[in-house]
Amino acid sequence: MNLKNDITKIIKMTAEKLNYDDLDKIVVSFSNRPELCDFQTNYAMLVAKKMEMKPIDVANKIVESIGENDDFEFSAVMPGFVNVKVADRMLSKFSNFVLNDENLGIEKVKNPRLVFFDYGGANVAKELHVGHLRSPIVGEALKRVHMVLGDKTLSDVHLGDFGLQMGLTILQLKLDGYLDKFFEPGADFLNLKIENVTLDVLNDEYPKASKRKDEDAEFKKIADDFTLYIQQHKEPYYTIYQKIKDLSVAEIKKNYDLLNATFDFYYGESDAYPFIDQTIKIFTDKHLARESEGALVVDVAKEGEHIPIPKKSEDEPQRYKNPMPPAIIKKYNGGDLYATTDIATILMRNRDYSPDEIVYITDNRQTTHFKQVFRCCKLADISPEKQKLTHVAFGTMNGKDGKPFKTRAGGVVRLKEVVGLLIDKAEQKLASNGIVGDSDLARKIGVGAMKFGDLSNTVDKDYVFDIDKFLAFDGKTGPYIQYTIARINSILLKAKFDDSDVEVSNQDERNIVLALLKLISSYQICYEAYSMNSLCLATFDLASAFSTFYNNHKILTEEDIKKKKSMLSICLLVKKSLEKALWTLGIESVEKM
Ligand code: ARG
Repeated sequence: MNLKNDITKIIKMTAEKLNYDDLDKIVVSFSNRPELCDFQTNYAMLVAKKMEMKPIDVANKIVESIGENDDFEFSAVMPGFVNVKVADRMLSKFSNFVLNDENLGIEKVKNPRLVFFDYGGANVAKELHVGHLRSPIVGEALKRVHMVLGDKTLSDVHLGDFGLQMGLTILQLKLDGYLDKFFEPGADFLNLKIENVTLDVLNDEYPKASKRKDEDAEFKKIADDFTLYIQQHKEPYYTIYQKIKDLSVAEIKKNYDLLNATFDFYYGESDAYPFIDQTIKIFTDKHLARESEGALVVDVAKEGEHIPIPKKSEDEPQRYKNPMPPAIIKKYNGGDLYATTDIATILMRNRDYSPDEIVYITDNRQTTHFKQVFRCCKLADISPEKQKLTHVAFGTMNGKDGKPFKTRAGGVVRLKEVVGLLIDKAEQKLASNGIVGDSDLARKIGVGAMKFGDLSNTVDKDYVFDIDKFLAFDGKTGPYIQYTIARINSILLKAKFDDSDVEVSNQDERNIVLALLKLISSYQICYEAYSMNSLCLATFDLASAFSTFYNNHKILTEEDIKKKKSMLSICLLVKKSLEKALWTLGIESVEKM
């Protein structure tokens, strides 16, 4: 049941009967003057000129010709809108339909697809920090909106487990004496433990090495070699690598659990390794790769991109207009690169699942990388033409100073610390509401606040991490939605109510159903935009319409039983719809608050 479609159909049939043209221009939208009407179309204004008529006359003709209608009231207003008000009985009918629909009125896509989501992307041996928050938050929600609309989904965390950071970490551990036993002649390294290497040690060693590589070319060269050894499964490097990885992945999983991010696969870059040779061969066989300074590259620039800017002097470095550099698929030392593993991973995913679409969720600094990878895959036919490859590039999470979120001392904030901070704050808030000692509830609220705060923004925008704003119990926040649900729970519990029918009978109730209509249509908007902000806003609008209704009407003490039951049904309708919206956003609902 789709009221917007019903209205569109009525207007279309009428315009057709009147022999009007351009019927595809009949687009019905939610009204931006809710005090006047619920829906409207500007069709008359678009076609009047061609028909040599005044827009208002076209609109009047349509309205006249539709005549009386029990479900919708049509009117023509200047300069040429057709306004539509939905009758109470139609809103009631719609509410009851939603209450009994397993997808709560949300229409599924006509042709469900298999969509593969690649998000999370934690790097093994590197501590997760605040910069890693957005990918699991956005990715999980986008995946869920696809699920709600009926697509099949698969998700892979795609761990960074084969890159330079592994070589760097192992080199640093070796220099600091943690790995002596592994390098003794005849060492039985498979049965050795990497003693004393804890997560804290890893968290110190990697940054140390990362800093040194920028200053010490010899050190960087050895780390490159170590990385290559790992990629070639050379011992003891490979065994050490695996042990470090196990340690680190256990920790990564805990972090993602905390964020309610769930993955079908915990694959990593290394899982694409068996496909690397084949990948490179495809490019060389098809003459798509060329050698450049000892490396193997693929030219992916299209016309008009990567145009050299004439140098002013000989020693000036070459610069480019519209830069789209070639993708490097093999390094000078034979090592494989980020692009190569991503291309090989697509090969692997297509061999195993051939998804209709693969969606990557990373920050916007990786835009060029994904353009290169996608173009490589299309050029080499590793990704069939009909397969959609999408990169969702999100903006930066900034501190209140407008710069990327840092600790007071200017250091990187660990992900665990941020989540800890959110939970602490949520606990304090709950305590002021008289709820103490419920740490699970505090986690749901703290993490939910963060997620809602993040997802409320258009995905590509930078936004400010403002913990107090996110955690406010009123306003456009996660806790406000959770609180609304908890409040409804308490009403329904007190009322001991069994299902009945909604009968919309006043403006507050109308506003709830109209907000619900918008909420339902926002799923499709998010699906198309790869951004969850519309759903967040519509969820808030529904919760806020409910609050008005709740403040203006006595539900539990209503004496007219039929009316009371209808109001309780509205409560149930709102609760179910808010819960579904939160679920889609990857936010947990709470029973009480
Ligand atoms: N590990 C990468 C990083 O930290 C993110 C991985 C994103 N996914 C991908 N298929 N490249 O930047």
